[in-house]
Amino acid sequence: MSAASARTLLRVDDLSILDGQDRVLVQNVSLSVDEGETVGVVGESGSGKSLTLRAIIGILPSTLHTTGSTTLTQTEPGAQAAAMVFQEPGLALNPTLRVGRLLQLTWKKHHPGCSDKEAKAAAIGLMSDVGIADPPSRFDAWPHELSGGMKQRIAIASALACEPGLLLCDEATTALDVRVQAQILALLQTLVTERGLGMLFVSHDLAVVSSVCERIIVMRNGVMLETGRTEDVLTRPQHEYTRALLDANLSRRMHAATLGEVMR
Ligand SMILES: Nc1ncnc2c1ncn2[C@@H]1O[C@H](COP(=O)(O)OP(=O)(O)OP(=O)(O)O)[C@@H](O)[C@H]1O
Ligand SMILES: [Mg+2]
Repeated sequence: MSAASARTLLRVDDLSILDGQDRVLVQNVSLSVDEGETVGVVGESGSGKSLTLRAIIGILPSTLHTTGSTTLTQTEPGAQAAAMVFQEPGLALNPTLRVGRLLQLTWKKHHPGCSDKEAKAAAIGLMSDVGIADPPSRFDAWPHELSGGMKQRIAIASALACEPGLLLCDEATTALDVRVQAQILALLQTLVTERGLGMLFVSHDLAVVSSVCERIIVMRNGVMLETGRTEDVLTRPQHEYTRALLDANLSRRMHAATLGEVMR
């Protein structure tokens, strides 16, 4: 998709999030995501990443309120503008619903008038789209019977059942081991490319964010410290905090590499 023809799926202008005592938790965040684009939000714990995503999709706790504006573009009539993928697929999936049934019900909810049979076919199609081998044989699996990576694939399929233009991923690969993390990142990238989705990808891990995002936003204490093309932020960080994040990532990678050497 050429940049000229890409629609803007999300525009956030001067978003602030405040608690009941008017304490500012997130301050004046502005960002946008276009079709086919992945934008990363990185920052330490408590920097306001999750609250920003929750405000965008409208699931903030009722004790918090916002100022500023958030505009989501609906890409298809009847489709949901955005859907979210969370860190813990085990918590996101209903333990009392077989995974295929969950997808079938989610599909039906978003496609009123569709028959059980059509919804089941759509659910099996979604399982295949997210890389689950032999979907009919997995249709009746319980969530607890699946690995963490498989569960996250089902959670992603559940998000896709709403046919969103925009995927909001909140630490969607953080709970997974490195190998599975790489597989899920590859899946998300494929979905963005093939379906022309936009993705807002939140992680505390700069290396993960920079591996999938064209643009990065660095947050700390509820404030956007800097934003730019990934390459520019990595090679010419403007802020001391971003430099510290880069250094921390580098030393962690070196530590992991050393650990790998030791274990070999
Ligand atoms: N319901 C709430 N009421 C009051 N303060 C809250 C609430 N939820 C979060 N906060 C505060 O808002 C700030 C931002 O929280 P948020 O969960 O967005 O951080 P985060 O960047 O997602 O962190 P993490 O990497 O740990 O997930 C934190 O200081 C947090 O304590
Ligand atoms: Mg969070």
